[in-house]
Amino acid sequence: RTLRIGLIPGDGIGREVIPAGRRILEALPTSLGLKFSFVDLDAGFETFKRTGVALPEKTVETLKQECDGALFGAVSSPTTPTKGYSSPIVALRKRLDLYANVRPVKSVAPTPAFPDPIDLVIVRENTEDLYVKEERTYDAPNGQGKIAEAIKRISERASSRIATMAGEIAVRRQRVRETTGGDAAGKKSMVTITHKSNVLSQTDGLFRATARAALEQARFRDAGVAIDEQIVDSMVYKLFRQPADYDVIVAPNLYGDILSDGAAALVGSLGLVPSANVGDGFAIGEPCHGSAPDIQGRGIANPIATLRSVGLMLEFLGQEEAAARIYKAVDANLAEGRLLSPDMGGQARTDEVVEDIIRRL
Ligand code: NAI
Ligand code: MG
Repeated sequence: RTLRIGLIPGDGIGREVIPAGRRILEALPTSLGLKFSFVDLDAGFETFKRTGVALPEKTVETLKQECDGALFGAVSSPTTPTKGYSSPIVALRKRLDLYANVRPVKSVAPTPAFPDPIDLVIVRENTEDLYVKEERTYDAPNGQGKIAEAIKRISERASSRIATMAGEIAVRRQRVRETTGGDAAGKKSMVTITHKSNVLSQTDGLFRATARAALEQARFRDAGVAIDEQIVDSMVYKLFRQPADYDVIVAPNLYGDILSDGAAALVGSLGLVPSANVGDGFAIGEPCHGSAPDIQGRGIANPIATLRSVGLMLEFLGQEEAAARIYKAVDANLAEGRLLSPDMGGQARTDEVVEDIIRRL
């Protein structure tokens, strides 16, 4: 089978790590029966400066019409308000209905603070909540200054499909744990619903009830997926005290955004943390980091966040075995710790890290 992959490097180190993503796909063993073809696509601030649009229509159309999946690097944001500029990844999520943002967080090695292995994934709803951007500002009565307000919109449809995706991810993780064995095999499959329905009884109340109903489906129950829930503030506390206790966390957009950046801090470098923007039948892998102007052009960016994002993209395209190969090779590189990039305390260049991981495929 040939998968056609759109490559959108964007700005800064996006141009250094996306080629690494392409290399790992090309290096996958032929025994997997997979072939890849690639198409280079523009987006980002450089594209905006050149053409006046951050996300060319051609990029969207090519993804829609030709591609099975895509890899997105990072884009720089203008430092001053810039007329006509808006974030291309936010627009892409909307145009392709990529309604979930999936962010796995996995520790490299035990630390004094976190002696147990951290291996969790945050599944963030990506289309609604406060991010519908319906805001307004008006004058308070009696001249007492301004008031600004924003709509928080939660729908049954979006809550149900995000929780269903979280359930499916939990089932898949359980299957992988059972086949890999080892310490992880004993970990219980669980989805934690995050909300604040004690205060926001209608919006978060609907999210909570809908997510719970979706996770009560027989296929999840039969697979042994436990349902847990956590008020978001206590979630933050527990996530940072006992991250090893969590498996899959599902959250509405805003809480998910905050939790997923926070959780990335648990494992050291941003250069390690992948993500995927997922819809029905399409996925874009995207490292969590930005364009890192401080190290751009030096060939020292850590490619691992991108390589893991390649794995995630493959998982959501139904290529679990290929994904598992990549994860395993990355973990082996980190476990040996001989060829690490500077952000990890090593001296290896991007290419050397990629070559070491390819050797381990
Ligand atoms: P950043 O993630 O680009 O960098 C933060 C720090 O982490 C820097 O010191 C950087 O060198 C380091 N770092 C990040 N990725 C690394 C990697 N792969 N290997 C080694 N070190 C790495 O965040 P920052 O500096 O806040 O933003 C820089 C630009 O990126 C801004 O224009 C920002 O708007 C944009 N940005 C874009 C994102 C996206 O495209 N999704 C996400 C975050 C920021
Ligand atoms: Mg964020």
